[in-house]
Amino acid sequence: MGQRSLRTQVGIVGAGPAGLLLSHLLHLQGIDSVVIESRSREYVEQRVRAGVLEDATVRLFRETGLAERLDREALIHEGIELRFEGTGHRIALTELTGRSIWIYGQQEVVKDLIAARLDSGGEILFEAEVRTQDIDATNCSIHVRHGGGEHVLECDFIAGCDGFHGVTRDALAGDVLKAYHHEYPFAWLGILAAVAPSTDELIYASHERGFALHSLRSPEISRLYLQVAPDEDIERWPDARIWEELGIRLSDDHGWTLKEGPVIEKSIALMRSFVVEPMQHGRIFLAGDAAHIVPATGAKGLNLAVHDVRVLAEAMAEHYRTGGTDALDRYTQRCLQRVWRVQEFSSSMSSMLHRLPDDDGGFGRRLQLARLRYVTSSEAAARSLAENYVGLPHDASSERSVP
Ligand code: FAD
Ligand code: PHB
Repeated sequence: MGQRSLRTQVGIVGAGPAGLLLSHLLHLQGIDSVVIESRSREYVEQRVRAGVLEDATVRLFRETGLAERLDREALIHEGIELRFEGTGHRIALTELTGRSIWIYGQQEVVKDLIAARLDSGGEILFEAEVRTQDIDATNCSIHVRHGGGEHVLECDFIAGCDGFHGVTRDALAGDVLKAYHHEYPFAWLGILAAVAPSTDELIYASHERGFALHSLRSPEISRLYLQVAPDEDIERWPDARIWEELGIRLSDDHGWTLKEGPVIEKSIALMRSFVVEPMQHGRIFLAGDAAHIVPATGAKGLNLAVHDVRVLAEAMAEHYRTGGTDALDRYTQRCLQRVWRVQEFSSSMSSMLHRLPDDDGGFGRRLQLARLRYVTSSEAAARSLAENYVGLPHDASSERSVP
């Protein structure tokens, strides 16, 4: 196949939640886009990651026709448990905030988004390799290798939705971006297991041996995580050792037991905080993990990506309607307010719950326990945690300015 020249309004790099949702929201505004994805459709539809959707994410999915299966299959949760010193303490999310969270796997979100795009004639190039991205004052072009040929995609704007390891961030002039970065001294070993969850609500356990989380995907599938060292070798964790350690860290003094079952998937994820400012330059806009990463303890990365692309789609729609660039110019400012709120929440949940490897003399552990006791005994402190966990309404977090 030879060279083909394609033209669209917005070239989107990455078919994760951010890129696919952006393409869907633009389509609803009558704006054309093409999504370029390096992996296969099967791969992105099977990749196991997030599980918790905020109230505002679910509302947006409903308003934009994406929630038919979600409304049938997602599990609504009205509380979470913080477990420490052998006892569980419930944070009553819905009672404290009036809002809930939904459990629905990220790969299900991705499947629904791909189906929605393809059903309405959207174009997604899977297994496509971005070679270069050229930008000038009036136009952009993305050179892509796909299906055995070299293609040029001409567009008005490029949306870099290609995750933390993507290429678009590098296409922005390095000297205009400032990156803020923090690596945590722990990682998560996550498993998906074919066994009924041993709990109705998520359990975040802070144990002397390290953090553990019991989450779920469905009445038949459990999702569990263990704190491990960042350089941990997954080969050192046969299934029996994982279940034994989960059993210890999640145990309580009241007879609770963990049901074990076959492990379907197992991987290690690093915990890091990362933000680039600004999230845009000229005709390139970054969204989702391409612009920021949060440690998974707050369950926020996907939800933050959803907020970014909502703001970006609105700004692009205003541009195509009026010809003006005011809303596009304010994209970074509107996103960063929420990004840093979520960054602070995710970081503080992480430091409250994980074993601190260099906690000489146990001072840090005593501070952790003091915080855990406070958030589980003071209604004001519990409400603050709950408000952040269910997520702030979208408008409240993006309309104010960032200094
Ligand atoms: P991604 O999902 O990373 O998508 C980027 C896409 O771009 C990928 O498909 C990738 O293949 C593609 N790509 C990369 N490079 C290129 C290239 N050069 N050319 C073309 N395509 C490219 N978030 C929550 O909100 N709630 C949770 O409960 C939660 N739990 C998590 C648990 C774990 C263990 C982990 C690791 C993450 C969790 N997250 C959670 C975070 C969430 O998974 C991410 O924030 C989310 O995937 C971000 O979506 P995205 O579309 O920005 O990026
Ligand atoms: C998940 O179900 O994958 C999950 C739940 C809560 C988190 C992170 C991940 O904080």
